[in-house]
Amino acid sequence: MARVIAVTSGKGGIGKSNFVLNVGICLAKMDQRVLLLDGDLGLSNLDILMGLMPQKSLDDVFRGKVPVDHIIVETDYKVRLLPASSGLVDWADLPEEKELDLVHRLMKVSGDADIILVDTSSGTSTHQIAFLSCLSEIILGSNDEPTSVTENYSLIKALKNAGYSGRVGLFSSMVPDYVSGHTLFKQLSTPAQRFLDMQADYMGPVCSDQRLQTAITEQVPVVVRFPTSDIAKCYRVIASTLLSQTGQPINLERFWIRFLQMVREASLPKARREVSFDFEVPKEGIPPALEKTMDAILEEQRRTRQLMERLVYIMEGPLRGRMHEHIDG
Ligand SMILES: Nc1ncnc2c1ncn2[C@@H]1O[C@H](COP(=O)(O)OP(=O)(O)OP(=O)(O)O)[C@@H](O)[C@H]1O
Ligand SMILES: [Mg+2]
Repeated sequence: MARVIAVTSGKGGIGKSNFVLNVGICLAKMDQRVLLLDGDLGLSNLDILMGLMPQKSLDDVFRGKVPVDHIIVETDYKVRLLPASSGLVDWADLPEEKELDLVHRLMKVSGDADIILVDTSSGTSTHQIAFLSCLSEIILGSNDEPTSVTENYSLIKALKNAGYSGRVGLFSSMVPDYVSGHTLFKQLSTPAQRFLDMQADYMGPVCSDQRLQTAITEQVPVVVRFPTSDIAKCYRVIASTLLSQTGQPINLERFWIRFLQMVREASLPKARREVSFDFEVPKEGIPPALEKTMDAILEEQRRTRQLMERLVYIMEGPLRGRMHEHIDG
């Protein structure tokens, strides 16, 4: 039975998508059948990181244009990819009986995977927590910015409040060395254990490495482009650590039901997202609530920019194709 592992973080931009892609490829090299699931709705980018342009996504399945097995992409890296929804389709319109049918089809196409790695969006939105809390294995990424650590603490707290009782793994992202990675792990795991009674396992560091940027620009996974780099070694060690753990298989039907629920809720108008201004202004210093709100606005801006970049990339697709034809003669 498949292990489903979701990779998430309280704060965005810490290296989740690259983690899912590269650890997934390492696991595939270790003879695991790996399915990557892009669960960062509207901002999915696993395809771009592999230089792929899937023609179809879950949205086309929703519109009844293609069966679900037609949207799965077989990549050059032995991992399969299930491209997510664009977030632009109103999934609330999907009739209940069709949803159940879709759940069963998704179970069928994912049933032969050993490991399903889910790349999620960051944050502690209600639908995200509801989805995560049905899983049994979650990996959180953190870098050493204080906000990254505190947002992850809030995420662990939200999971605890939602009744999550599965495994929590942590990886330290963009750290200079192993010692800093472990220190960062302790910064988060110690208060989580003491104040929330939540135990976290250390998955290891993902060292800061400029070659990741080169690989991203060239749209080739870094473990393939620079297999002997420090960062590739980090991803390989994490993949081995994952394999050495006893898997916590979950009920796939429940997983896909919750996944579609998350897609449905995330496709609701974005204006419903709450940004709280409910705070007392103290005499000195920036109030933490204001800082949090400013962070939320900046995060929203970053995600909007990413979405725009992705739209431009998609719109330029046909043009790129013509240019390649022209160059190739
Ligand atoms: N180990 C690393 N070394 C150097 N740069 C890194 C590392 N990890 C991530 N980055 C940088 O951070 C950027 C964001 O990485 P990635 O897209 O994997 O993060 P993410 O957590 O998925 O972001 P989002 O929350 O927006 O989905 C990369 O484009 C890269 O520039
Ligand atoms: Mg991402």
